[in-house]
Amino acid sequence: MPEPRSAPVTVPSVRRAKRRDGHPPLVMVTAYDAPSARIADAAGVDIILVGDSVANNVLGFDDTLHVTVADMAHHTAAVARARPSPLVVADLPWMSYHLETTETVRNAATLIRAGAEAVKLEGGAVRVPMVEALMAAEIPVMGHVGLTPQSVNAMGGYRVQARTDDAASALAADTKALAAAGCFAVVLEGVPERVGRMVTESLEVPTIGIGAGPDCDGQVLVFHDLLGFNQSTPKFVRRYAELAEAATAAVSAFAADVRSGAFPADAEVYH
Ligand code: KIV
Repeated sequence: MPEPRSAPVTVPSVRRAKRRDGHPPLVMVTAYDAPSARIADAAGVDIILVGDSVANNVLGFDDTLHVTVADMAHHTAAVARARPSPLVVADLPWMSYHLETTETVRNAATLIRAGAEAVKLEGGAVRVPMVEALMAAEIPVMGHVGLTPQSVNAMGGYRVQARTDDAASALAADTKALAAAGCFAVVLEGVPERVGRMVTESLEVPTIGIGAGPDCDGQVLVFHDLLGFNQSTPKFVRRYAELAEAATAAVSAFAADVRSGAFPADAEVYH
């Protein structure tokens, strides 16, 4: 059983969660609906991310570029209705924060009103004006750098980033700029272990890694990956269950019982 939490997870408590200060690693997992939010809550995670990866994992798209603010608000509201105690962070989808700061704040406010307590956006120093505008509107922001899935076309695929010294220094500068602008934590995705370590050491706010090695201040995995709902998963994923197999076996057993007449049994009938 997970340990009972002594205090709710808040933005300030996450901001303070540096492992070098003795804080245990942060645990973040995605959830896109009320049942998965309840599971994440019961498991005692620190942060629920309503990720734009809902596009690939639930909505059947090949990338995250197709989800809208309305889609994200719909899924954020479903998560919030479960009243989970972990901090709820919602992804700002592609093109909802790229053009103007006023539009960024308005879109983030839609996600906050849907039930998020903070938003996450992708990109480095180029996003500083958006982060500052969100901070001015009292909307906490989590950064996301490295392999940023919304940049899939610009990156030419989902490739490990910051492999050279120059690229690693640029990424470190990006994370510093995000933290200075007010980000309370930064997701590091798809970077070599040494880059994860170097950035984590250099930042005052926690890093949350996904494919960024063991030295980050926390780790995040996608719910559907860790539970084995997706057929193929990247190298950095550990599958803790094979629920697609278990679900297929259960539905097959139901189908067989219906076809043989074994379902419903007398106990499953209203008399
Ligand atoms: O949308 C998502 O699932 C994410 C994680 C990969 C961090 O942004």
